[in-house]
Amino acid sequence: MNNLDPRPGVIDRRLDAVERLVAVSGGKGGIGKSVVSAGLALVLARQGLRVGLLDLDLTGPCGHLILGIDTSFPEESFGLIPPLAHGIRFMSISCFTGAEAAPLRGADVSNAIIELLTIVQWGRLDYLIIDMPPGLGDALLDAVRLLRRSEFLIVSTASRVVVQTVQRTLRLLDMVQVPVAGIVENMQRDGYAADPDIRALARDRGLPFWGSLPFDACLEPAVGDPEALACTAFAQALGKMVRSHLLAARD
Ligand SMILES: Nc1ncnc2c1ncn2[C@@H]1O[C@H](COP(=O)(O)OP(=O)(O)O)[C@@H](O)[C@H]1O
Ligand SMILES: [Mg+2]
Repeated sequence: MNNLDPRPGVIDRRLDAVERLVAVSGGKGGIGKSVVSAGLALVLARQGLRVGLLDLDLTGPCGHLILGIDTSFPEESFGLIPPLAHGIRFMSISCFTGAEAAPLRGADVSNAIIELLTIVQWGRLDYLIIDMPPGLGDALLDAVRLLRRSEFLIVSTASRVVVQTVQRTLRLLDMVQVPVAGIVENMQRDGYAADPDIRALARDRGLPFWGSLPFDACLEPAVGDPEALACTAFAQALGKMVRSHLLAARD
């Protein structure tokens, strides 16, 4: 991308009517970024808000699986219109690749993200939730650079290995001056606490700790079924967080 590339300006215009962009990240894979992203979108849609979910995981997209969304090629009208499923505008590379692998590397990753952001017409949304891939590489840096108004929600689990990557992620976001909306502990189980404790980590950095989402054995059987998902203890806890931390400012 060079200074003559018109696409970043187009991306800004595409997102003009989106009130808040919340990117869900945390550095590591397998910590629940995708279920938290899908859950957030579901909870917000059920509150009557206009919500989009953008799955930016180009190699392991799974938002459509979690929410049971059919990923046929989107409707075209001056760009691509994200299909509306369960009250959520949804977009993912899986709309184009289906279940095939997308062997992208280097500049291809950035180009695929730029193209996706350039062609999608989100329309008017209260929230666009962005499900980030693992890692602190191209995709994260591109999201920061191209989704200029985004704020990050950081997911962690009570594992020293995860917490260290979360700390690294927070330092990077600090470096590039991107706001962090909060930190969530996921897969919380009684008797397990990381060192440093996630709540303390948030406090030391002056960031809001949104609370803990339980490890919920009912989550896996509910995957693909939004009605069942919304009834899980996981989604109920997420709903509480959303009401106290995302929606409180709107009331
Ligand atoms: N709170 C939880 N309780 C039970 N299973 C969970 C929970 N959070 C995540 N999982 C499971 O862990 C796995 C990884 O979650 P996922 O959202 O794909 O992680 P990531 O996007 O960070 O790679 C999935 O099988 C998911 O269903
Ligand atoms: Mg994921």
